[in-house]
Amino acid sequence: MAENNYDVLVIGAGPGGYVAAIRAAQLGLRVACADARETLGGTCLNVGCIPSKALLHASEYFDAAANGAMAKMGIKVTPELDLDAMHGQRRDAVKQLTGGIEFLFRKNKVTWLKGRASFTDAHTVQVGDQAVTATNIVIATGSAVTPLPGVTVDGEVVVDSTGALEFAKVPEHLVVIGGGVIGLELGSVWRRLGAKVTVVEYLDQILPGFDGDVRKDANRVFKKQGLEFRLDTKVTGVTVQGGKASVSVEPAQGGEGETIQADAVLVAIGRRPNTDGLGLDQIGLGVNARGQIETDHDFHTAVPGVWAIGDVIPGLMLAHKAEDEGIAVAENIAGQHGIVNHAIIPSVVYTWPEMAGVGLTEEAARAKGEVKVGKFPMAGNSRAKTNHEPDGFVKIIADAQTDRVLGVWAIASVAGTMIAQAAQAMEFGATSEDIAYTCHAHPTHSEAIKEAAMAVRGKAIHV
Ligand code: FAD
Ligand code: NAI
Repeated sequence: MAENNYDVLVIGAGPGGYVAAIRAAQLGLRVACADARETLGGTCLNVGCIPSKALLHASEYFDAAANGAMAKMGIKVTPELDLDAMHGQRRDAVKQLTGGIEFLFRKNKVTWLKGRASFTDAHTVQVGDQAVTATNIVIATGSAVTPLPGVTVDGEVVVDSTGALEFAKVPEHLVVIGGGVIGLELGSVWRRLGAKVTVVEYLDQILPGFDGDVRKDANRVFKKQGLEFRLDTKVTGVTVQGGKASVSVEPAQGGEGETIQADAVLVAIGRRPNTDGLGLDQIGLGVNARGQIETDHDFHTAVPGVWAIGDVIPGLMLAHKAEDEGIAVAENIAGQHGIVNHAIIPSVVYTWPEMAGVGLTEEAARAKGEVKVGKFPMAGNSRAKTNHEPDGFVKIIADAQTDRVLGVWAIASVAGTMIAQAAQAMEFGATSEDIAYTCHAHPTHSEAIKEAAMAVRGKAIHV
């Protein structure tokens, strides 16, 4: 076999691509994975999930010390911010985790090809200066920031999420364009470290895609923490002069505009699939109106031998969705039956408290048929109360006839961890009664899930 010929070539080493490469190698296939970055792990490990969580975690400690939460527990401290050290531990987390994937590639004998990849034909890809052939090619090129017309990201005053991870000093006033996941996570980081933060959101509520009650309560909780929201508002342009930004805004439906002065502006209005320069025209593969590559349920594209997964295909743009698709596509290539249940993919916003959900929102469930809803406040949960975490709730939406759980939504300090239980229950086809009669350890935040399930039938204990 020629050196540059593989059973599988994966383009992109993010959570979709690197997982697909490792799984394919585990299944006995000869695998290479090409990525244009210097380090493995894609957006998630280099400039996404991991560095943002490193800053969220560290800033949470700083905030707890600064806002009196520690003093409330008898710990008197006056915190001093060492931003360089905070960035240092972020960079260290990224280095360790990207290095970890390199180790896993070596261990599983996946060949790492450094360079930008472009199709020559359906089985040949040019990676840098070498031509690589493969029987199967998996496109896992991920996504990049959606640009906003009239706003130029200069990487200093006007930044995207990557720039907002790197601010060398805390901005006095940060304007965030977009009240979605990135805006709220990174807005929270800089608010905690001392910035005034104004979030400008085009829609009438933050966090589109989340359950209506979560969106409303999230807005209340973030406002209490000092984030300012300009809802129903669109940004029409940003100008930068002398290191300061003027952000022009106007009502979303039109009307009189105004200007907001800021030291920094974060553009976070969504992400779009990465297909530029990939040479899709060389293989006759098109994209849909949103720029995504369409696949069937098994992740085949319209071109035989070419598969696609992750942010570059339709669906939620989440690392765990990409990872699961990576495993499934490798299994399908190896002749097995890889499946991803796209109806049960949890979403988590890693703010304080965390916001999480899985399955249908109450609005979507009601549009489909009759439902029963059980809600339990975290204020009634003994662990949350003891830990001084009064905000949030768990809500369970069940089918009115069958009692099958259709969706679970939560705001709680550890909602991201709690939601795994809900996802698993839903995968097993659980009813709310199944959850209500499952013994949950006491005192844990997860007891709120049991109580919400009991509330579906109107019988929660601690309210
Ligand atoms: P990516 O991770 O984008 O990887 C694709 C890789 O392909 C990149 O390295 C890219 O350089 C490379 N590439 C692209 N084109 C080519 C080419 N032609 N040749 C060679 N290489 C190429 N998701 C979560 O689930 N949880 C989180 O907490 C979370 N936090 C996030 C925070 C931020 C700030 C951002 C921006 C995103 C976050 N996400 C999070 C989303 C998550 O990062 C993505 O959903 C995930 O990385 C998608 O994985 P992927 O493998 O499809 O693509
Ligand atoms: P998003 O889609 O979550 O939010 C974008 C927000 O910007 C929306 O609320 C939208 O209404 C608003 N918007 C769009 N155009 C606007 C305009 N012109 N003016 C004002 N507001 C406007 O996208 P975001 O936050 O950029 O994140 C991108 C993706 O990254 C998400 O889809 C998410 O899946 C992923 N991500 C996931 C995280 C997690 O799982 N914790 C963390 C960060 C990102």
